[in-house]
Amino acid sequence: MEAIGIFYGSTYGMTEKSAKEIKKAFGRAKVDVYNLADAGIEDMKKYRNLIFGTSAWGIGEMQDDWERFIDRLPEMDFSERKLALFGLGDQKEYPESFVDGLGTLYCRLPDKSCVVGQTSTESYDFYFSLANKDGEFVGLVLDEHHQKDLTAQRIKKWVAQLKKEFI
Ligand SMILES: Cc1cc2nc3c(=O)[nH]c(=O)nc-3n(C[C@H](O)[C@H](O)[C@H](O)COP(=O)(O)O)c2cc1C
Repeated sequence: MEAIGIFYGSTYGMTEKSAKEIKKAFGRAKVDVYNLADAGIEDMKKYRNLIFGTSAWGIGEMQDDWERFIDRLPEMDFSERKLALFGLGDQKEYPESFVDGLGTLYCRLPDKSCVVGQTSTESYDFYFSLANKDGEFVGLVLDEHHQKDLTAQRIKKWVAQLKKEFI
């Protein structure tokens, strides 16, 4: 498997923590983790395997650093890349916009054909999520507020899936 670049936007550090756990779950694979606040498009272009992570803010909003960065994505050629997404949210406080940041990030991708790492919506409890497309989540969904105990096994399962789907 080729090197992986993880790019996250995180306000209180929860998405950052998850990004580091995802890196750890890849074991000996080459994985570099970037805080989007300090990264540029040239950093992203170095990787054919990419992981983007965001938390959810307000209704349908990505974390601020993604709001600032998203318009630069069309500068990337995604046709020879694989991209996996993960999102953090709070299904009890925001059951009508659960992980909407992840859904918005997916919606605003210039090319969706490169996206891998979709997951089941089972084991979550919510009314609506922009990240739910055709009955599955567009990426890995983590809720560190109410399902923290499930995070490690969710990451482990997702990483095993990505090891098959990445280049
Ligand atoms: C003002 C505010 C709005 C939020 N809006 C949503 C939301 O619409 N949907 C959701 O699932 N979580 C929402 N959350 C929860 C955050 O996404 C969650 O706490 C996340 O773990 C924060 O991650 P971060 O520290 O990496 O930014 C909101 C939290 C706050 C404080």
